[in-house]
Amino acid sequence: MRKKIVAGNWKMNLDLNQGEKLLKELLEKKINQEVTTVIAPPYIHLSSFRELISNSTIKLAAQNCHQQENGAYTGEISIGMLKSVGVEYVIVGHSERREYFLEDSLALSFKVTNLINQGMNPIYCCGETLSQRKDGDHFSVIKKQIEQGLFQLNEMELSQCIIAYEPVWAIGTGETATPEQAQEIHHHIRKTIANQYGEIIANLIPILYGGSVKPNNAKELFSCSDIDGGLIGGAALNASSFSDIINSF
Ligand code: 13P
Repeated sequence: MRKKIVAGNWKMNLDLNQGEKLLKELLEKKINQEVTTVIAPPYIHLSSFRELISNSTIKLAAQNCHQQENGAYTGEISIGMLKSVGVEYVIVGHSERREYFLEDSLALSFKVTNLINQGMNPIYCCGETLSQRKDGDHFSVIKKQIEQGLFQLNEMELSQCIIAYEPVWAIGTGETATPEQAQEIHHHIRKTIANQYGEIIANLIPILYGGSVKPNNAKELFSCSDIDGGLIGGAALNASSFSDIINSF
């Protein structure tokens, strides 16, 4: 059985007080323990959140990392630093980072490899833009992103990865992919992996859907055979909606 995962990507939202308030509210909620619940707050909240979640099953993620171990990279945060404050998961290649911070596939593949080498779990994001979908290029775009970011790994390494399919046109727009559209791409991702690594490995990898997941559409999405959870943006900023999404499984 594949792991079920719901991860909340807080993006650049909530100061420390607001973030602690939200986390405390979330800790009060009853959440389905069969689901691995992950939160990715801004970097500077991570060490104080480590204390707050110490008696819970919630895991910490970072929204990004730098690929180098240390050195003259002003403003960046290394994987070792994240590990030292209890982070276990790192989002890599979110479309906002690809678009606004020009992260290229080579840098992303280094991040993935170095995360694995340090025993961390990358949440590797892929997704097409609206124009790529309109042009019918979505299958090839996703395949290329998967190959460029992950295919440098061996089987053991790949099995530590989580993939998130986030169609860019569905992020923060209120327009969710239909369960059929999402399932079609999740299946395509799993097939792409199976062709390279075999069915057994492909069937181990959790593939999350992200893009306007809300309590009213999560159940339908999560019931698709290749959708193993969600990467949640806006709805993760409210304890009730985030816990309702987790409990949609
Ligand atoms: P929304 O849920 O706000 O659409 O954001 C999705 C996302 O980008 C999560 O990483």
